Amino acid sequence: MIRLIYSSAVNPTFHQGELQRLLSHYRQRNQQLGICSLLLFMNGDFLQVLEGEEEAVERIYQLIQQDRHHLQLTLLSRENIDAPAFAGHSLLFIDTEELTRKLGHPVHLSNIAQHGELDRSEAARRFVQEFINGKWHHHLANGTNPQVVRRH
Ligand SMILES: Cc1cc2nc3c(=O)[nH]c(=O)nc-3n(C[C@H](O)[C@H](O)[C@H](O)COP(=O)(O)O)c2cc1C
Repeated sequence: MIRLIYSSAVNPTFHQGELQRLLSHYRQRNQQLGICSLLLFMNGDFLQVLEGEEEAVERIYQLIQQDRHHLQLTLLSRENIDAPAFAGHSLLFIDTEELTRKLGHPVHLSNIAQHGELDRSEAARRFVQEFINGKWHHHLANGTNPQVVRRH
């Protein structure tokens, strides 16, 4: 079993409503292939964690690489794992801006950990926190991130 993590920037022609509509389709395919996944959306950027059998993960990642809905695809990590950190989630989608509004304060790793079993995976935790901190953000001209809680 492997875990693959990538980041990308949303293609400006891809509308949020369209993504919401497509998620159930993606979720269905992941379920069929036994994939567990977290998809974070923040300031126009995606971070996705894909977990499952190597062949299945590679198949999905191939589709993702060919998908023009996003740009600047960056492979961040690929490792062998014993168990998925997102067991039970075929595609856990978190729009961090929506979550920030709901919580009334900036998003932090612990808010996201509540939605998954992130505790089990140090590597996934690290990537999620770095993403929240603004790493791999492609669109912010001045490099600032209004949702940053703490920078290293
Ligand atoms: C940010 C992002 C995440 C995606 N995640 C998945 C995924 O987890 N599973 C999946 O099957 N497709 C995912 N897709 C869609 C694939 O890139 C691709 O468009 C789709 O699988 C093609 O299948 P279709 O021709 O049946 O629509 C994602 C696309 C984007 C932009």
